[in-house]
Amino acid sequence: MKAVKRYHISTGKIAIGLLLLILLLMILGGCSLFAGYDDEAYISENENLTVVGVSQLGSESGWRTANTESVQSVFTKQNGFFLIFNNARQKQENQIKAIRSFISQRVDYIVFAPVVESGWETVLIEAKEAGIPVILMDRGVNVADKSLYITCIGSDFVEEGEKAGRWLEADLEERGTADDEINIVILKGNQGASAQTGRSIGFSTIAGTHSNWNILDQEYGDFTSAKGKEVMESFLQKYPDIDVVVSQNDDMTFGALEAIRESGRTVGIDGDITIISFDAVQEALQMVAEGTINVDIECNPNQGEYIYEAIQMLESGEEPEKRYYVEEDVYTIDNVTEELLSQRTY
Ligand code: AHR
Repeated sequence: MKAVKRYHISTGKIAIGLLLLILLLMILGGCSLFAGYDDEAYISENENLTVVGVSQLGSESGWRTANTESVQSVFTKQNGFFLIFNNARQKQENQIKAIRSFISQRVDYIVFAPVVESGWETVLIEAKEAGIPVILMDRGVNVADKSLYITCIGSDFVEEGEKAGRWLEADLEERGTADDEINIVILKGNQGASAQTGRSIGFSTIAGTHSNWNILDQEYGDFTSAKGKEVMESFLQKYPDIDVVVSQNDDMTFGALEAIRESGRTVGIDGDITIISFDAVQEALQMVAEGTINVDIECNPNQGEYIYEAIQMLESGEEPEKRYYVEEDVYTIDNVTEELLSQRTY
């Protein structure tokens, strides 16, 4: 009888002990009583999503912010995507780290805007070996094996530089000063970036056909307003006779305009320094409309839709073309309308 009683008591203890053990294991494992339901819902909600890892090079300019927003607006859950976004803060090593982490997370696609053109082979080989397609956004890379990426979607930077040169030719012609000596300074973007090299090549191709265009100096302004101002200040100290500033993005132009204003010189269509800028963000277009910036060569940041299309093609077994150029315009006081200004979202 005693033995039977002892047997009943120890069964109860065992049951309670087991329950406590299960609870302890759940707590140690980071679970709650309801976690199983949440996980299931999460998995079934996300298992059909296409996972895209995006490495953005930084947030140096208004243009870059618009480019980031364009990508984030297409890779949404409603569109069937799960976006893993990383901002590399202008450092190639951060981009390489982000790409490696995308590879180890076995994402479906890698999209990245390369801060510079060179030094990508090793990590792109790793992505290829992992079977993950890579799409370049905005800027290009310099690799011998073009199969390391699927497609490159962005601007024709050489063409943008040529547009700037051709605009200057026409403007000087119109002013009747085409044969005068013209002194030019160039604010360049960050060293090694395809936006910088392309625009430099394009502009110097046109400049090279004019023996009276003197390029006094060219310095890296890293596509930022602060650096643009700093470089422009040093140009103004060194050269009292600058006629034209070619600034490879709007942010550097904003900085340069401050430096010129502080030096007492005037700019724009009624001033003594001609301003050529790139990007055509809204704030700069407003300055074009006011005659402060003479011309703005558009660089279109809305690339998300194009990347989305390329991924749709890959999903349906089609091969995208190796290169897609976004549409871009040239803006002067003659074609910046109120309508354009109100429609510009960046
Ligand atoms: O690569 C595009 C360039 O990079 C844009 O002109 C500039 O604003 C950005 O930072």
